Amino acid sequence: MRAPIIAANWKMHKTRTEAADFLQRLGRHLEPAPTWFDSGEPGAGEGVQAVVAAPFPLLETAARAAAGTGVLLAGQNLHPATQGAFTGEVSAPMLRDCDCSFVILGHSERRALFQESSEWISEKVAAAQEHGLRPILCVGETLEERESGATETVLAAQLEGSLALLNAAQAEELVLAYEPVWAIGTGKTATPELAQAAHAFLRERLRKLLGEASAHAIRIQYGGSVKPDNAESLLSQPDIDGALVGGASLDPDSFYAILRAGATALPR
Ligand code: PGA
Repeated sequence: MRAPIIAANWKMHKTRTEAADFLQRLGRHLEPAPTWFDSGEPGAGEGVQAVVAAPFPLLETAARAAAGTGVLLAGQNLHPATQGAFTGEVSAPMLRDCDCSFVILGHSERRALFQESSEWISEKVAAAQEHGLRPILCVGETLEERESGATETVLAAQLEGSLALLNAAQAEELVLAYEPVWAIGTGKTATPELAQAAHAFLRERLRKLLGEASAHAIRIQYGGSVKPDNAESLLSQPDIDGALVGGASLDPDSFYAILRAGATALPR
């Protein structure tokens, strides 16, 4: 059973007021909680999970506004050290202290704009696990890599490199996000068939790395121009267990429509 997980990646958007407003409006859609939604109440554990990854300064406000709604919070990055002289960085315990349950790691914007290597990301994955944060690990190929036939090589290298320090006992808490770089913020979504093929490939690699049970349990999100009108066709694919949503996650009505589409991924 893989409960679908839909995550909003706000990137560097919103003020505290806007974050609170978003969560209040989303909360109204979720009150009373729809039957397909995982509200966090006992017995609700198999529904669609909703996650919001907010910029660090908004997390405390977001945590207050999300309380009681069932919406979970995520950081968008962390530093592997617990504390220390790392100006501008944020640690896993700090994210836990702000009520984060998840953290996005290895997003292609971090890999490309901040030169993050898979080796460096693997340290972050280990730190997240050590402090009780569930990593949402992103992998994805560029257009050039896809056109040159290197997609599978690139995905396998990113996956294996980023999971090198994974604590296998907690492997099933990992969430993977397949985000083809050419589809992020471009309006060019991967077709459901193309996305499914990449997800099946990643699940097969997980099987080799972590064994059958973990590969079956780990949820793989698709990300890259997911919108209310394409979410259902993507989420109905057998190996697509959720979505990581950028642009369309900034509006609560559109994010809610994608959450609702997550119900089509039930049950797994
Ligand atoms: P997008 O971003 O939905 O705006 O394409 C997705 C992401 O970068 O996680």
